[in-house]
Formats: sequence, structure tokens, C-alpha cells
Amino acid sequence: MDLGLTGKRVAVTGGSSGIGLATVRLMLEDGARVAFCGRNPDRLKEALAPLTDAFGDAVAAHACDVLDEAQVAAFRDQVVAKFGGLDILINNAGQGRVSTFENTDDDAWREEFELKYFSVIRPTRAFLPALRDSAAPSIVVVNSLLARQPEPHMVCTASLRAGVQNLVKSLSIEFASDSVRVNSILVGLVDSGQWQRRYEAREDASQSREDWYAALAKQKNIPLGRLGVPEEAAAAVAFLASPAASYITGASLEVAGGVSRFA
Ligand SMILES: NC(=O)c1ccc[n+]([C@@H]2O[C@H](COP(=O)([O-])OP(=O)(O)OC[C@H]3O[C@@H](n4cnc5c(N)ncnc54)[C@H](OP(=O)(O)O)[C@@H]3O)[C@@H](O)[C@H]2O)c1
Repeated sequence: MDLGLTGKRVAVTGGSSGIGLATVRLMLEDGARVAFCGRNPDRLKEALAPLTDAFGDAVAAHACDVLDEAQVAAFRDQVVAKFGGLDILINNAGQGRVSTFENTDDDAWREEFELKYFSVIRPTRAFLPALRDSAAPSIVVVNSLLARQPEPHMVCTASLRAGVQNLVKSLSIEFASDSVRVNSILVGLVDSGQWQRRYEAREDASQSREDWYAALAKQKNIPLGRLGVPEEAAAAVAFLASPAASYITGASLEVAGGVSRFA
């Protein structure tokens, strides 16, 4: 199926690793031009090098913290100057916070609020004028299944993810008159930088990577019996972002191996 991404101009936040990086690569393979950002310049450089080898000038990377308004504006200016506009924004940057209600203090709640909301608000606000000028504009938010199925050990992430889902719905309605579609994916457990870091911090250092991941899939009752890979989340992002999904807005697609905690 041709998603219609050829020539589309795409910005991906948090593109230097995991789901974001897989999305960058998939969209480039489908003929899009893609700019991505992240905070760590070394990680950006490492991600960019093989992509430049494969896709040349169609790809660019810029250091940008999506929580910093000036940096987001600079990222937007660089992208629009390079591509002459923007068709697709992927709000992906972020990470989860592991903490129960008992051990989440006010500062942690505020910090998580800032990350979850402003990682969507700032890039969306910055790129909206360019998106309005596009013939096929869309936004995809990489959200979490926690929005619908909270887990108590991630209390503030889960609660704010639910708020972000609500925000996605509002944006989809407000922007519909400009034909800017807004959708999200709800990620379950996808093997990425986040899980790699948790594996490295495991209690039993003798446990192999394979065994640790297998135990995790079992503990989380994932019907498909394994974690997802970033490419599987990226495929859902690319579809929702693409002209192939031209009549879909305000939707959310679960990429979670069938997890249903409360069914
Ligand atoms: N993997 C999962 O199981 C899972 C589940 C639910 C939701 N998600 C969500 O999926 C998204 C992608 O995560 P991932 O699993 O692919 O994790 P990852 O491999 O850790 O990638 C996160 C990316 O975001 C960037 N980033 C983080 N904070 C940023 C900021 N403030 N400004 C700009 N870039 C930032 C990181 O680069 P720098 O650190 O260099 O900035 C990196 O490129 C996140 O929003 C995450 O919460 C993931």
C-alpha cells in the first residue's frame, strides 16, 4: 500500500532513538523528507550519520529540548527554511516516570505535567502556521496505553497521558476546519531506550536480556507474548500521519500486543 508519503515534509520530536528513530527511518524509506530533534547532540549525530548515508539531503537533525520555547522556535525555523514548509508533525519526545502516589511529590507532578503537556503544546503551536499552509497536514502524538489503562506504579504519567488523550481530541476538532488531522497511538510496551535503561538497572545482574524481556512480557500479561519493537509503533504512526488516513482524525490506535488490563 502506498501511504502517499513521497515528498512529504516531516518533523519528528525525539527522533534520535526508539520509536522516534524508527519513524524517521520508515518515513524516509517511504519517500518523505524528515527533520528530527533530541536534546543530546552526540545521540543525534550517531542517529543521523547512517541516515545521511542512506538518504542524503532528505534528512536533518537539530538539537532541541521540546520544553524550551526558544529552542522549539529555532527547530521550527530550521525545518521550514530547509523544506519550505511542513506537512506532518510527530510529537514523540518524552519518557515515562516510575512512581506511585506515595512517592510522587508536588515537584515530580509538576515536572511530569510540564513534560507530558508541553512536549505536545510547544511543537504544535510552533508548527501550526506551517501545517495550515500544507495540502495534507497532520499531527500524530505518541501517547501511552496508560491513558486508558493506568498502572499504579506510574501514577502521574498515567493520569497525564489521559489528559493528553483529551487534548488530542480537542485539537482534532479545533483544527478540523483547517484540515489539520490530529491522531495518536497508544503504546503498550515497546522495546526502546526506556526499556534498555530499565534492563540495565535490573536487580539481578545475572539475568540475561532475553530472560528479562520474557519475564516482563509474562508479568505484563501481553497476549502476543512479547514486547513490541519500535518499527511496529512507527508503522502505526506513519499510517495515521499519511494521506492514506485522510478521513481519520481524533482517533487513537493501540499498539500494545492486545494488552487489556481491566477487561
Ligand atoms: N517504549 C515504550 O514502551 C513506551 C510506552 C508508552 C509510551 N512511550 C512513549 O513513546 C515516546 C518515545 O519513547 P521511546 O520508548 O522510543 O523512548 P526512547 O528510546 O528513550 O526515545 C526518546 C526520544 O525522545 C528524546 N527526548 C526525550 N525528552 C526530550 C525533550 N525534552 N526534548 C527533545 N527530545 C527529547 C530522546 O532524546 P534525548 O534524550 O537526547 O533528548 C529520544 O530521542 C515517549 O513519549 C514515550 O513516553 C513509550
